[in-house]
Amino acid sequence: MIQHIGILTSGGDSPGLNAAIRGVGKAALGFYDMQVIGIRDGFRGLVENRTMQLDGAVLSGILTRGGTILGTSREKPHRMHFNGKRQDMTDVIMENYQAHHLDALVCIGGGGTQKNALQLMEKGLNVITLPKTIDNDVAHTDTTFGFDTALGIATDAIDRLHSTAHSHHRIIVVEIMGHRAGWLALGSGVAGGADVILLPEIPYDIENVAEAIRRRAVGGMPFSIVAVAEGALPKGEAERVHALREEKLKASDKRVRKQVKAELAALEADHANHTVALSRQLEALTGLESRVTILGYLQRGGTPSAADRLLATRLGTACADLIADGVFGVMVAARGELAVPVPLVDVAGFKKLVPADHPWVVSAKRVGTSFGDA
Ligand code: F6P
Repeated sequence: MIQHIGILTSGGDSPGLNAAIRGVGKAALGFYDMQVIGIRDGFRGLVENRTMQLDGAVLSGILTRGGTILGTSREKPHRMHFNGKRQDMTDVIMENYQAHHLDALVCIGGGGTQKNALQLMEKGLNVITLPKTIDNDVAHTDTTFGFDTALGIATDAIDRLHSTAHSHHRIIVVEIMGHRAGWLALGSGVAGGADVILLPEIPYDIENVAEAIRRRAVGGMPFSIVAVAEGALPKGEAERVHALREEKLKASDKRVRKQVKAELAALEADHANHTVALSRQLEALTGLESRVTILGYLQRGGTPSAADRLLATRLGTACADLIADGVFGVMVAARGELAVPVPLVDVAGFKKLVPADHPWVVSAKRVGTSFGDA
């Protein structure tokens, strides 16, 4: 009989996390008469044994709250920061899992969490995960909770940025989150009517972007909104990053691997400077003033949208159903109106990226949006 379950949230916070905790917790407590504990701050809380009892009172009123009542971290069980160095804390996690007499561990997170959960599964824990991230880049699920809310925030921002763009006849470059995936920039760019959308998956030529903006100006619209995903890169740099990622995968020598990772991290972390440089280049190439807005953590803030609450609740309750049926080693994926268990081995380590011919890209091009690729 499954009696005791633990829930943790890991990776970047996102709207809908508390709705998911509530969905799993209320179903487990009320429908299946299980005991539920919350583990604080991701996998670190499992190592440090920092937990809280999740009962009806704690779960009440959290559906609409942003963030996570449990706290989160990006800590990895096998490489956790302790005493100034990264250590493998998996064995301590196993001990604490048993000390709490857990029958199941629910890990709510994005791509990194899926990988960490798989490793714990391979060590023998009964693990089951839920797909959370505003990036929408988790493989084998239609969508992730957090994405719809962030989509609405970014779209609203683009709507608002149109005011200053057409009033001052300016280019407004708005940087949108998404890590290495362009879903958020693509979706909000289409919904917000951006004139240019730049994605990590479609490396761009700055000349093509400038030409699209100049064409608009000649056509009587001397302003443009450029929605740029934080991972978007011009063609040359994109090729360099791709080569480095390939090299990192193949590098056997530790020193080489460390060098490659450092160069990659510098290139990828530099997105804010990259966005400012892009704006300056466009101003020089078009003669229009250009200004930058970086949406950053606004996209992860506040109450979840109705769609995210609904998605998080239905995946959360389906998770409790699967636990009651003794189904582990899976992620609970959204497939249409269904919640389907997908083996973690098929999810962990894979990213869902935007295909260059995705219907949203095709639709955007039909209404004249430039992706800087032609
Ligand atoms: O994964 C969600 C996300 O917001 C990404 O879009 C972004 O690149 C990253 O987290 C930021 O990470 P952190 O919260 O650690 O700064």
